[in-house]
Amino acid sequence: MIIKSLEHLNFFSKKIAENLLKPDCVLLFGEIGVGKTTFTRNLINYLQKRENIKLTEVLSPTFNLLYEYEFSAFKVMHYDLYRLKSVKETRQLGIFNEKDSSIKIIEWPELIKDNVADKIELKFSHSKKKDERNLEIKGYGRWKNFKIDEL
Ligand SMILES: Nc1ncnc2c1ncn2[C@@H]1O[C@H](COP(=O)(O)OP(=O)(O)O)[C@@H](O)[C@H]1O
Ligand SMILES: [Mg+2]
Repeated sequence: MIIKSLEHLNFFSKKIAENLLKPDCVLLFGEIGVGKTTFTRNLINYLQKRENIKLTEVLSPTFNLLYEYEFSAFKVMHYDLYRLKSVKETRQLGIFNEKDSSIKIIEWPELIKDNVADKIELKFSHSKKKDERNLEIKGYGRWKNFKIDEL
């Protein structure tokens, strides 16, 4: 599909946010600047609005690897694995620790080899138009038949 603008991305982020349950995983693929962090910021801010809690900054976890956001029903862990170099190093983070049932949103997830039952993969890419993005969606488990009608 085509994401036509920032507003359209925001709408799309909300649709994903509305359907999230723990321990879902959202994998965000695509080059620098395609909108992975912007998508995540929209999603987190939407959940904060929904719970009437203060909107926070949602920064890119490029250097920290992880930022966490607490909600009433779940925690959201926002990872950016850009700086990691091996599968082993990635495993050591314990992202899919059995005791951790948080929701994960992961930028640069190429080195993740774990089998995750309920996940959605979003592959963003640049388009010729500046504010437009191409997006491929692939769902597994609970997300297998995920469709957005109003796009
Ligand atoms: N339709 C769009 N979708 C996503 N980002 C867009 C769009 N149009 C413009 N942008 C801009 O592109 C940039 C995306 O940056 P960012 O979200 O940090 O990307 P990434 O995390 O993939 O590196 C932001 O400055 C954002 O405002
Ligand atoms: Mg980013």
